[in-house]
Amino acid sequence: MFKRGNRMLKQRNNAQSIRMPVITAFCIVICVLVWVLYRESGEKSDSFSGVIKENLNSFSSSVKLDPTVEFRNGTDLIWQIPDSPKAVLFLAHGCNGKAANFWDRSPKCLNCVGLPEERLIVLSALARRFAVLAVSSAGRCWSMEDERLIVKDIIEWWVVKQKLQSLPLVALGASSGGYFVSVLATDLRFSSITIMIAEGLFDRMDIPKSYPPTLFVHMPKDKTRRLKIERYLTLLKGEGIDVAEVKCVEFALSPNLLADRIPGLDLATSVKLYSLFQEKGFIDTKGFMRNDGRAIQWKPALKERDVVLLDKSIADHIQEEMNLAFAYHEMTSLQSEKIFNWFETHMS
Ligand SMILES: *[C@@H]1O[C@H](CO)[C@@H](O)[C@H](O)[C@H]1NC(C)=O
Repeated sequence: MFKRGNRMLKQRNNAQSIRMPVITAFCIVICVLVWVLYRESGEKSDSFSGVIKENLNSFSSSVKLDPTVEFRNGTDLIWQIPDSPKAVLFLAHGCNGKAANFWDRSPKCLNCVGLPEERLIVLSALARRFAVLAVSSAGRCWSMEDERLIVKDIIEWWVVKQKLQSLPLVALGASSGGYFVSVLATDLRFSSITIMIAEGLFDRMDIPKSYPPTLFVHMPKDKTRRLKIERYLTLLKGEGIDVAEVKCVEFALSPNLLADRIPGLDLATSVKLYSLFQEKGFIDTKGFMRNDGRAIQWKPALKERDVVLLDKSIADHIQEEMNLAFAYHEMTSLQSEKIFNWFETHMS
């Protein structure tokens, strides 16, 4: 992919002198357009539809999900290693999650679920040449005691088995997985970590000087967590730890959004769902969710209208996108670029 990019760049260089004024004019037009659109879209929506499109289309041809499933220490681990990996990413799901949520169902992983945000995180990781390892928690959520040792053991064993010991190790945990990663970072040497929609357990542990650089990816609408994260940002900074935060805000659904983000959901169904949500008042006139997907009685509404989902499991995928759009508490891949930039700039 990168090689081809370089070649194209070279060809372009030859014609550059002629095209320069045209390109400049084009850029100005685009900038003005972006500025106008951005101004009109207001604060809420940002330019998320653009971000969404981009982060979907950029992988479609270059990376493919191709997991390997293993069973060890009473749990399953699922992993994928790209060509010439540059780092190892450990992924920790939230409560009710599992490793199988990160990869699409395929002959190599019949139990895989491929939730939309989870799979996009893995695709982003692979596109940036991170080897990805996901482990399932033994219970519904992660246990902060024994499970730490088991997972530490699994990660160390796996890294050696795959001969990836020389690579930097990073971690991303969401919700329960975020708390888990925040403490696992005292057991294992991560070059940096991302704690998503969680504040971590920093008031319950001694923070060593060697604690890894920590990025908080959170949804400020969840005010309780936001306040705790603000407190921990200050606390960690005071300890000399490199920290940063990325805030995720709500965005409007569009008729095609569900089809764009959920493999196996066709455009016709997506459009039908959107108008149903509008009729039922689940979204406002601009398409913003009025509540979290978990709190809305949207499944009975489907039945009522005879909207049939070919695959029942797709309901969970739809709900994840509704939660994401509401931006209170959900796994998000929309910030992948910032997350992987964080990992890549903290690898020494
Ligand atoms: C995990 O399994 C391996 C191999 O069966 C075993 O040697 C190791 O002690 C186990 N680790 C823990 C923490 O139970």
